[in-house]
Amino acid sequence: MKVARYTAYGGPETIVLEERPLPVPGPGEVLVRVRATPVTAGDARLRSGKVPRGLGLMLRLVIGWNRPRVAPGWAFAGEVAGLGPGATGFAEGQRVFGLKGFKGGAHAEYLVIPAAGPVLPLPETLGFEEGAAFFFGGLTAAEFLIDRAKLVRGERLLVAGATGAVGGAAVQIARHLGATVAATASPANHALARQLGATEVTDYRKGTPPGPFDVIVDVMGALGWVGARHLLAPGGRLIQITADLPAMLSSAFRPRRGGKSFLTGTSKEDLASMRRLVTLHQSGGYTPVVGQSMPFERLAEAHAIAESFHKPGNLVVTMEDRR
Ligand SMILES: NC(=O)c1ccc[n+]([C@@H]2O[C@H](COP(=O)([O-])OP(=O)(O)OC[C@H]3O[C@@H](n4cnc5c(N)ncnc54)[C@H](OP(=O)(O)O)[C@@H]3O)[C@@H](O)[C@H]2O)c1
Repeated sequence: MKVARYTAYGGPETIVLEERPLPVPGPGEVLVRVRATPVTAGDARLRSGKVPRGLGLMLRLVIGWNRPRVAPGWAFAGEVAGLGPGATGFAEGQRVFGLKGFKGGAHAEYLVIPAAGPVLPLPETLGFEEGAAFFFGGLTAAEFLIDRAKLVRGERLLVAGATGAVGGAAVQIARHLGATVAATASPANHALARQLGATEVTDYRKGTPPGPFDVIVDVMGALGWVGARHLLAPGGRLIQITADLPAMLSSAFRPRRGGKSFLTGTSKEDLASMRRLVTLHQSGGYTPVVGQSMPFERLAEAHAIAESFHKPGNLVVTMEDRR
C-alpha cells in the first residue's frame, strides 16, 4: 500500500509516498481501506512546523525536534477491510469514518484503529469525501459555539473567515442553533458564505460588518481581542480559533473582561463529540463543504493549497481502488 511520510519540517516537498506492507489488525482493531482523507490546516502546520507565535518550541518538544515524528493524516473515511481478534461493532465492507488524531496515519491506503476508538459508521447521507471532511472544522466549531460560547437562539454571530473548514462549519451550526450570522470572506467566497447561511457578508480586507455581535468567531486570529472587543455586545464572547501563545495565556488568565469573554484553546476529539456532530448532521445542521478533491498521488500539491489558508471549504485526497 502507499503511505505518506514527512522527511523534515519544510515545504510540501518534504512529503514522500512510499510502498509498505498492509498493516495487520491486532486484537480489538479494525483494518480500514481509506477511500478519502482531508488535507487540513493542521496537517500543513505539523508538516511545516509553522505555528502561531510562541508555539513552535512546544510543537517540536511534542512531535519531534528535527522532523515531525508523527505520521501524516488526521482523519479518514473508508471501508472496513478486516477485523482483528475480538474486534466487535463493525463488519467487513462497512463504510466508516474517524480520526487518527495528531499522531496521524490517515494519509495511507490502509490503516488500523481500535474498534472502540474514534471510528463510527459513515451515515448514508455522506459520501467518502464528505466523510473525510466531516470532523476537522465541525468538531472545533461545535465545541466552541455550543459548549464554550453557549450560543443561543436569537443571538447575533460574526464569523470572520467564514468559508474554510472551521468557518464554514461555524456558519452552518450557528444558523441551525437559531443565530443570525454575519460573515467576512474574500469577494470570491461571498456567494458561498451566503449559501452556508450568512445574511450579511463583507470583504475582511475592507473591514467587518458593524455589529454589535453576541459572539465573534475569529478564525485566523486576524481581529484579536483588540480588534474585536468594540464589536462585542454586552455579555459578548470572542472565540479566537487561531491564537498565539500571548493570546492563549491572556485568555487563560483573564477570560472575563468587563462583562465580555475571551475564549481560545483546542477542541476535544472524543467519541462523544464525534457522535454529537453526527446528530447535528442528521438533524440538518451541518454538512461539510468539499471545495476541492484530488488523487492521493497529488498530496504534496494539496498541502501547498492547505497552507494558503484561503481554501473554500475542505480539501480532500482520494485513494484509487487498487484491489
Ligand atoms: N483551535 C483549534 O482547535 C483549531 C482547530 C482547527 C483549526 N484551527 C486553526 O484555524 C485556522 C483555520 O483553519 P481552517 O481549516 O478553517 O482553514 P481554511 O480552511 O484554510 O480557512 C481559512 C479561512 O480564513 C479566512 N482568512 C484567511 N486570511 C484571513 C484574514 N486575514 N482575515 C479573515 N479571514 C481570513 C479564509 O478566507 P478566504 O478564503 O475567503 O480568503 C478562510 O475562510 C488555522 O489557523 C488552523 O490552524 C484551530
